[in-house]
Amino acid sequence: MEVVLLENAIEISKAVSSIIIEKVRKKPAAVLGFATGASPVETYKRMIEAYEKGLVSFRNVTTFNLDEYCGLPREDKNSYYYFMKENLFSKAGFDFSKVNFLSGDPEEGESCCEEYGKKIAAAGGIDIQLLGVGTNGHIGFNEPSDSFSDGPFKVRLTESTINSNSKYFTERPMPNYAFTMGVGDIMRAKKIILIATGESKAKAVYSMVKGPVTPHCPASILRYHPDATIFIDRESAKLL
Ligand code: F6R
Repeated sequence: MEVVLLENAIEISKAVSSIIIEKVRKKPAAVLGFATGASPVETYKRMIEAYEKGLVSFRNVTTFNLDEYCGLPREDKNSYYYFMKENLFSKAGFDFSKVNFLSGDPEEGESCCEEYGKKIAAAGGIDIQLLGVGTNGHIGFNEPSDSFSDGPFKVRLTESTINSNSKYFTERPMPNYAFTMGVGDIMRAKKIILIATGESKAKAVYSMVKGPVTPHCPASILRYHPDATIFIDRESAKLL
């Protein structure tokens, strides 16, 4: 695992977007794994800027998002599908027929999980998986637990995740369950880039980089990946 310390979130977004753009220029039909949340937003802005300047085309890119809340339809403003549409896909020329999401439908969701794993494999695997990290060390919605997950599954969110994310739910209560790609799915990506900024991530960054590799800090498994890079800023690096 390579750790890259940069001054702030903007510098990180420049570095990470360059890696993604470079990949897509070399391989226009690249398969990209995306995350939602605050961590990748600046990177998505840089990708949109590059698209607007005509420096890259995402038209042939296939995407897989990490996770979706259980019980939120796609058009719900709090769904991760909506987030991606607003923050990246509709502004950077992505082809929505190549955009893949776990279903948030409580009935359909579980059967969709198995399909999702197969779809990733059929697409040839993920070339670059972008990640954030939870304050509790989660990646995707793989919460701390006694074992590492493999394929996509339905997860009960922990109190820590609910505390971190409920600020976004102003009109309805935050769902307690979500569907997420498993740790195995993430580890099968050819390249992994994780972004962690701000003091609230300092403990998780320490555990991920210096603590034991354990499912109690799911992000720690990235140390076993042959091509994983963690981009951190001064604040999140505080305990290292
Ligand atoms: C989101 C996801 C989560 C977030 C993590 C950090 O799709 O998979 O693991 O990356 O909760 O969230 P932020 O970036 O909002 O601090």
